[in-house]
Amino acid sequence: MTVVLGIETSCDDTCAAVVEDGWIRSSVVASQGVHDAFGGVVPEVAARAHVEVCDLVIADALARADARLDDVDLVAVTQGPGLTGALLVGVAAAKSVAAARDLPLCAVDHLHGHVAASFLEPEPVDPPFLGLLVSGGHSLLVDVDDHDGFEVLGATLDDAAGEALDKGARMLGLGYPGGPALERLAGDGDPEAFAFPTAEGVAGLDLSFAGVKTSLLYAIRDLGGEEAARPRAADLAASYQHAVVEQLARRTARALDATGHDLLVVCGGVAANGVLRRRLAELDADVFVPEPALCTDNAAMIAAAALHLEPLAPAEALALDVYATGSVAP
Ligand code: KG4
Ligand code: ZN
Repeated sequence: MTVVLGIETSCDDTCAAVVEDGWIRSSVVASQGVHDAFGGVVPEVAARAHVEVCDLVIADALARADARLDDVDLVAVTQGPGLTGALLVGVAAAKSVAAARDLPLCAVDHLHGHVAASFLEPEPVDPPFLGLLVSGGHSLLVDVDDHDGFEVLGATLDDAAGEALDKGARMLGLGYPGGPALERLAGDGDPEAFAFPTAEGVAGLDLSFAGVKTSLLYAIRDLGGEEAARPRAADLAASYQHAVVEQLARRTARALDATGHDLLVVCGGVAANGVLRRRLAELDADVFVPEPALCTDNAAMIAAAALHLEPLAPAEALALDVYATGSVAP
């Protein structure tokens, strides 16, 4: 029996969770409602907000799990990628708990964490599978052959899918995060009203959302600006979302062909999108999407990944540093 305390602070959610052998005993996510006014996450503001609540969130996760630090066998923390200042807060907290309690510390790659959300009970999925990881910070197709890592098959050349949806929503005058607001507005629109590009020119399994973003900008400009375009906002939203979803679905189909996988796991915040889920269900694969709370950032997924990794040696644990970009998943 292994009880893992997971800590995740890579972006704007302060998260802690207690996971026992793959079962979630508690998962606390404190979302920082302080970035909306800026239309996006402000790194320094995020780091400060993590400092304010990190200890409280960890205490809350333990309390909700009816556990004490004495019950914890392993501490797991997100090492990167993410915002440097934000990551440092979680890593400092994790190091402190591990050092004070003489516990092993496991450094987890955030993207591996998203994949590992699918390993959690009560419906754990076993590799091999193809992973589509679509969030505000990342868009990747990954080959998952084992529980302890993944291979990147394709990645976005510019914006992440969620970021593209957020920016599109902003152009249409919607608030942050834009993905859910855009999906609601798109429900009243015609996805074929505007023919936005799906990056067919990008070879292989990489993704690109710069083109569709520019096309939306030009379409709004051609209609006379955001105000003038308002009567067409639902059509613009539906067509924009359609182009993003089509690109993701076609690349995923290509990746299924290339790898021969017949199981697809979709994770990251954009996996909450109903249009994407319905489109992916048409592909030639079994599709598994973790429940919504496990698709967005959380610490249960970090703990889940740690159950399949080697903890750091004590000297390495104290020296643990963060990384902002890239991925060093094993
Ligand atoms: O995984 P996540 O919570 O945080 C990151 O690690 O980025 O993903 C957040 C992203 C945001 O871009 C948000 O707009 C998008 O997920 N998102 C959605 C929906 N719900 C959240 N995008 C499209 N449709 C949704 N229903
Ligand atoms: Zn994430």
